[in-house]
Amino acid sequence: MGGRAGFFEGRYFLKPNLFSLGKDLVGLEDLSTDQIVTVLDTAEAFKEISERQIKKVPVLRGKTIVNLFFEPSTRTKISFEFAEKRLSADTVSISSVGSSVSKGETLVDTARNLEAMKIDMVVIRHGSSGAAKFLGERIPSNVINAGDGSHEHPTQGLLDALTIRDHLGSFDGLKVCIIGDVLHSRVARSNIHGLIKLGASVGVCGPYTLLPADVEKMGVRVFSRIEEAIEWSSVLNVLRLQLERMHSGYIPSLREYNQKWGLSKQRLELGSDELLVLHPGPMNRGVEIDSDVADGQNSVILEQVTNGVAVRMAVLYLLSGGTPETAESAKGVN
Ligand code: CP
Repeated sequence: MGGRAGFFEGRYFLKPNLFSLGKDLVGLEDLSTDQIVTVLDTAEAFKEISERQIKKVPVLRGKTIVNLFFEPSTRTKISFEFAEKRLSADTVSISSVGSSVSKGETLVDTARNLEAMKIDMVVIRHGSSGAAKFLGERIPSNVINAGDGSHEHPTQGLLDALTIRDHLGSFDGLKVCIIGDVLHSRVARSNIHGLIKLGASVGVCGPYTLLPADVEKMGVRVFSRIEEAIEWSSVLNVLRLQLERMHSGYIPSLREYNQKWGLSKQRLELGSDELLVLHPGPMNRGVEIDSDVADGQNSVILEQVTNGVAVRMAVLYLLSGGTPETAESAKGVN
């Protein structure tokens, strides 16, 4: 489908066509507004496949995809696997535990050995920022970033945008505030890059210790009080406290964090009745979000998870050379 042959470290690979995302999906910082909208529109077309009784189309038949998950994951890993299987790709999933990574094999050696078995794509989650880009520059297979350290989580940013678009239609005039541990959050970075490109105003709110230095330079408004952020917003994206990435005292205690920064039902009432509440998961109920908000009528958290499968199908399809124009006919073939 529509690619041009190019040369990559001694091997030929397909260069992007006009609709393509390029060879790899590393972050939303690298995508144009048109490319982001293309993914959202293609995901919209693919949603219906997951509603079928037989959730399978032959779009990626013959493609081999490896999911390399070197950090824990429930939503991202399983939705990539579902997306791959629903598009008929052959897939294997590998984690550091149980693979030769635990014996000291490097990321590139692991990937090159997989390449030797003739694969087409790698989905990678890694604890180091930059791991996806690093790998993409060293192997000819398409590489998709499923979250790298505190850098980006592009498919999460895309599924968040799709969920917002489903409910509110347009990003023009929209005010989205990201609340909590922005400092350690790859989700926050992908949201900021993606939503600003789509035309939304983006705010961040949290303790100063959990906001990146010079975060204003990313084009966001900074709120020091959650109450003010709620009153300003049409959408709240609440982040998990990433305690596993905190190596010093960023907050006094979880209880105090909840009291000052937690999204409670009482606080939510400061916003409009239509305020959307997103959370990328996994949630720490009673810390950054209370259960009656997470499960309440403003929450679209499980819709985010549903949209994750469609967005990942769209990314896999577009990276393999598909175009939005061919999506409808591709998914119609049984
Ligand atoms: N949102 C997200 O990345 O969740 P997982 O860590 O479960 O994949």
